[in-house]
Amino acid sequence: MANIRTVGVVGAGLMGSGIAQVVAQAGYSVVVREVEQRFLDKGLKAIDGQLRRAVEKGRMSAEEKAKLLGRIKWTLNLEDLKGADLIIEAIIEDLPLKQELYRALDRLCPPATIFVSNTSSLTVMAMASVTDRADRFAGLHFFNPVPVMKLVEVVRTIRTSEETYRTVFEFAKSLGKEPVTAKDNSGFIVNRLLLPYLLDAIRALEAGVGTVEDIDKAMMLGCNHPMGPFTLLDFVGLDTSYFIANIMFEEYREQRYAPPRFSERWSWPAITGGSPAGGFTITPARRRRSRTWGCDACGHARQANMLPSSEIAEARLTCPEMNRS
Ligand code: 3HC
Repeated sequence: MANIRTVGVVGAGLMGSGIAQVVAQAGYSVVVREVEQRFLDKGLKAIDGQLRRAVEKGRMSAEEKAKLLGRIKWTLNLEDLKGADLIIEAIIEDLPLKQELYRALDRLCPPATIFVSNTSSLTVMAMASVTDRADRFAGLHFFNPVPVMKLVEVVRTIRTSEETYRTVFEFAKSLGKEPVTAKDNSGFIVNRLLLPYLLDAIRALEAGVGTVEDIDKAMMLGCNHPMGPFTLLDFVGLDTSYFIANIMFEEYREQRYAPPRFSERWSWPAITGGSPAGGFTITPARRRRSRTWGCDACGHARQANMLPSSEIAEARLTCPEMNRS
């Protein structure tokens, strides 16, 4: 098995920063690469916040926190990943973008470096095929929030070598995670089952089966889920869920992966980088953020924090303008 000491993480978003944290926590040296300084700053802030809470709760000393942060190097330069034994890519679910990155990394890194993708819906082989190291290429799919969720899906393509697979599997275990092996099919195990469930919740809402609150409550109290489907959709991100659903629909051409008609509108602001992404649920944090939605067409000029979420949901389903504000 290959010896892993330094790990490169590409992308410092929600998943990338969480991955960097758990990898550094396990004692590895980490190099995190982003395309803009503000994304690096955001990633560092997220990790620092998590660790500060751990110190406050007495789970970690201030020295341990400083040491852990000291193991993470932040960079805008792809070349800084040259010394990594393993590179974990956690960038946006965009195949051409990922392929471009892998082509560059393949040119840059020594042949022994193993590449893994944290993709949630693309096939790993679609990325591995643009490199000359398909045998040293696998998938490692983490779950949000990465420091908390125990599962990691280890994805083995038809070309992943036995040695790479075993190295990556053991690496996941060394992070304190519980790995499962999944075939290189879009969505692997979890999203294959989870996405149709989340999309069905939207369909149930559209069909008037229940309100956002009641559907969430039903699944939490009836099935002991930690979050209802709408809270989970907001937690994963409507834009991310929408991207994943579309990729899986393209792959399987099965109705169960087709985003419901309205979900496109719901995720529209996030996809276009507009103002705060819409959401089904009003969390306490969101409730504090006062937003005014104005719509000349239907007169939905209201303070968001004055509306119960079911009413906002109702209004959003009928008023595309609300998604824009
Ligand atoms: N990052 C790090 N730690 C977090 C966190 C975060 N974002 N959110 C919560 N935690 C920690 C808290 O610090 C707390 O730890 P402590 O008790 O040691 O202090 C612990 O988690 C519990 O947190 P809370 O008491 O605040 O809240 P909950 O008990 O409700 O737990 C939750 C929060 C763990 C997020 C829980 O609600 C949960 O498990 N939800 C479901 C999450 C889920 O399904 N994730 C998978 C999404 S699918 C995915 O990621 C795949 C992708 O491809 C789409």
